[in-house]
Amino acid sequence: MKDKKSLIIYFSRADENYFGGEMRYVDKGNTEVIAEYIKDIVGADIFKVEPLNPYPKDYMECIEEAKVRTKEHNAPIKENIPDISEYDVIYVGSPIYWGGMPEELFTALKGHDYNGKIIRPFTTHEGSGLSGVPRQLNEICVGAEVLDGLGIIGSQVNNSKQKVEEWI
Ligand SMILES: Cc1cc2nc3c(=O)[nH]c(=O)nc-3n(C[C@H](O)[C@H](O)[C@H](O)COP(=O)(O)O)c2cc1C
Repeated sequence: MKDKKSLIIYFSRADENYFGGEMRYVDKGNTEVIAEYIKDIVGADIFKVEPLNPYPKDYMECIEEAKVRTKEHNAPIKENIPDISEYDVIYVGSPIYWGGMPEELFTALKGHDYNGKIIRPFTTHEGSGLSGVPRQLNEICVGAEVLDGLGIIGSQVNNSKQKVEEWI
């Protein structure tokens, strides 16, 4: 995998989050930590999907806002993903929001030509693992081959570089 032209597309939110029983403010989201490991290991290009309307910094408010966005299913993003035609492998990184991807990842990923692409999902979560993400990617990225994903518990991201390396 390391010699294929690769792009990492991910979503991640800093601010207040829940880490196995404890609320804490962080400067960098969990999925971003994993995305940066992959960048180090593979030398891939990297693109962060940013919501046009930032999620609340408060965790409980963020949970509620994500529920609303899931229902509306059209969350706008700041900037479209780069042209994917030159890449063989796309690593897609997502936190689990209500059992699946944040709405902004749907917006970012839909409507591109995935024929012949390999998709490698990775998630961070508080117990749900990959949850609905592989299924969602299969639905959006028609023509791509979605390979086995990697799910990492949010509070363990800082000790997970080796796991990421083994997965790659
Ligand atoms: C809106 C929201 C919904 C969440 N839903 C789930 C869930 O359904 N299952 C789960 O295991 N974790 C859930 N979590 C926890 C996040 O997936 C976890 O904290 C993740 O590591 C956050 O990634 P980030 O720091 O990159 O944004 C949720 C968190 C938020 C903010």
